[in-house]
Amino acid sequence: MIGRFRRNKHDAGANGGSGLLAGRTALVTGGGRNIGRSIALEMAREGAVVLIADIDADRTRQVVSELDAIRQGAQSFVFDLSREEECEKLCTEIANRKSPVDILVNNIGSSGRDLADDEQFDRARWQKMFDTNVFGSLSLSAAFAKRLQKEKSPASILFLSSIHQWLVRRIPSYSASKAAVGMLVKEMAVEYAAAGIRVNGIAPGYVESTPKGEPVPHRHTPLHGTSIPPEYIGRAAVYLASDRYSRYTTGSMLAIDAGLSLYNHLGDSKGRRR
Ligand SMILES: NC(=O)c1ccc[n+]([C@@H]2O[C@H](COP(=O)([O-])OP(=O)(O)OC[C@H]3O[C@@H](n4cnc5c(N)ncnc54)[C@H](O)[C@@H]3O)[C@@H](O)[C@H]2O)c1
Repeated sequence: MIGRFRRNKHDAGANGGSGLLAGRTALVTGGGRNIGRSIALEMAREGAVVLIADIDADRTRQVVSELDAIRQGAQSFVFDLSREEECEKLCTEIANRKSPVDILVNNIGSSGRDLADDEQFDRARWQKMFDTNVFGSLSLSAAFAKRLQKEKSPASILFLSSIHQWLVRRIPSYSASKAAVGMLVKEMAVEYAAAGIRVNGIAPGYVESTPKGEPVPHRHTPLHGTSIPPEYIGRAAVYLASDRYSRYTTGSMLAIDAGLSLYNHLGDSKGRRR
């Protein structure tokens, strides 16, 4: 028993898919762990060939072996996507592939939890935060859309934002970067609609699980009283990427927070919350 409710049969371990993404190829940035890894695995279960890009070589190797067990064709790329030149190298590698990527998931993000109190309004730290949370995803998405605009085939771009695009978190560079992502989703949705490229976002609450895949207790989350296991973000990403369910969905930001953003509360003694 975790939190207030038992786990249900749809939690980690259920492997079945319905082929919602059959024939599609997805690139998931930051696919090495937690949310990115779950998005990669859920998309593979639904029939997509999945490529992951992450700064951590060991993690990417591990996830590719998990993906291989589900579906052939997984591939990993090791790049620091906060750096413009490394985003360009990734785009070149992707462009050289025979089958084009038609789902891009911009998942990498720095939480800013390592920032000291006196760094919260430090310009260099904001630059670093925006390089990771906004600019890498911006350049990858623009390059991806430019290529796909020519092909006029259904394609989907997803961004991982946060409920803190709307709510104060007391880590202002983080919240501001996620607010920028929220607006980027809307601008790109309109920009690329004529090419049939849908652009959407997911704004999670507190997402984490133990090494055994269990949610962890979280007293501020009203529904279930726990963190959200990352596979639920993975399945939401499948839903938004799937033409069957989301053909007419663009410019949306789907909050998946188990009610966390529905009321105000003070967090820890610093007034920060996770
Ligand atoms: N976990 C949460 O509670 C939560 C809540 C709201 C939003 N989000 C957002 O969801 C996304 C994923 O969050 P997470 O908790 O899974 O993150 P995480 O820190 O657990 O994993 C991030 C992954 O991205 C990789 N990465 C980080 N910087 C990189 C870079 N510069 N280049 C390439 N790879 C890089 C890391 O190696 C890691 O594998 C982020 O955008 C985060 O802001 C997370």
